Amino acid sequence: MGMIRWTAPSHEKPRSITILGSTGSVGQSTADIVDRDPESYNVEALVAGNSVEGLADQARRLRARLAVVANPQRYRALKDALAGTSIEAAAGPEAVVEAASRPADWVMAAIVGFAGLESTLVAARRGAMVALANKEALVCAGRLMMEAVEQSGGMLLPVDSEHNAIFQVFEASQRHAIDRLVLTGSGGPFRDWSLEEMASATPEQALAHPNWDMGPKISIDSATMMNKGLEFIEANLLFGLPPEQIEIVIHRQSVIHSMVAYRDGSVLAQLGTPDMRVPISHALGWPARIDGPAARLDFTDLAPLTFERPDSSRFPSLRLAREALVLGGFAPIVLNAANEVAVAAFLARRIGFLDIARIVEDVLAASSAPTAPVESLQQVHAADLEARGRAEEAIRRHSLTN
Ligand SMILES: NC(=O)c1ccc[n+]([C@@H]2O[C@H](COP(=O)([O-])OP(=O)(O)OC[C@H]3O[C@@H](n4cnc5c(N)ncnc54)[C@H](OP(=O)(O)O)[C@@H]3O)[C@@H](O)[C@H]2O)c1
Repeated sequence: MGMIRWTAPSHEKPRSITILGSTGSVGQSTADIVDRDPESYNVEALVAGNSVEGLADQARRLRARLAVVANPQRYRALKDALAGTSIEAAAGPEAVVEAASRPADWVMAAIVGFAGLESTLVAARRGAMVALANKEALVCAGRLMMEAVEQSGGMLLPVDSEHNAIFQVFEASQRHAIDRLVLTGSGGPFRDWSLEEMASATPEQALAHPNWDMGPKISIDSATMMNKGLEFIEANLLFGLPPEQIEIVIHRQSVIHSMVAYRDGSVLAQLGTPDMRVPISHALGWPARIDGPAARLDFTDLAPLTFERPDSSRFPSLRLAREALVLGGFAPIVLNAANEVAVAAFLARRIGFLDIARIVEDVLAASSAPTAPVESLQQVHAADLEARGRAEEAIRRHSLTN
């Protein structure tokens, strides 16, 4: 298994950037950092799904060249919202991909879920520095993504706080001397709940993350701990270490964002307040360090730091993600698709909280997804579509029996 090679480019200012998913939680945090130092950035394109007002407002503020909304029916509204400016407006999935192909040096990939795959891949294929928040894209098309950066000379800069933390303390030349990667996780809002309590958990309760303020999909993934499972696969791909060298530890305070343990006994950690503007600032400035707006860590004010093993009987998603990684081939695509469908069904109150992992497990178990390597984006789309169909069937079956 390979790993990403990170070669520092010359740090030219202003850096030209594009933000895919600019109106979301990660996207807004990125825009906030850019907005504080406008001289350092030229904004090529901003992309949203539906949120025309937020997008137009950002585009004006950041003086973007192009604003794109994925929903084609929102084109007129976007055009109107940008009236009187020279900002180009476009809409539709093709326009999203076109935005990613525009020549920005640095692209924030922060569209949520599988919907962000194609644009992220396009940016990687043209050799951009891709700041990767959209972990689902990597989980589904890891091999294609890794090949894309290798062939284009581009780069994936990890933005997920755990992978960004590892990136900051990862000595690539000493990879052979790494004992293990330690991914930390807060444990989510249900870390102390019993299975009986979780069975009747509502979307509101699951969305209330104790430490991080995030979009709805990743918040639910944090509650099931599928988020940690997806991150497990992400760590394997980015850093090229096998599953047995990746450990997950529950660390309630979210102060240590992850660690690398070396064979000489040293453990290097990255610390900070739980604010995504820390890893985003790191990726936005890399290889330089820029000023970041996040609150400083005050050690004298910290609660004691605690570490626990995750409980995979209450959080089966961890085991499911590990199984999908070990199965390889198309299994991670099936895992991700079933999870996206099940999370949406839970948010729509069609299924209960514990059913999310049950649906994923059923779809994975019934899947005959090949274990041969994924060769093309078309294959990824076909496998995703099929798994979504199976997940919908499982949800319908489930609704009939409840
Ligand atoms: N939030 C965090 O703290 C965090 C931390 C680590 C990793 N991540 C990862 O970062 C990604 C984004 O998470 P988030 O929490 O920022 O999500 P979010 O708040 O839900 O934002 C998602 C963004 O994607 C846009 N979008 C949705 N569907 C789209 C489509 N089909 N085409 C184009 N744009 C689309 C949304 O536009 P609208 O606003 O118009 O809907 C929004 O800008 C996820 O993969 C997540 O796992 C997030």
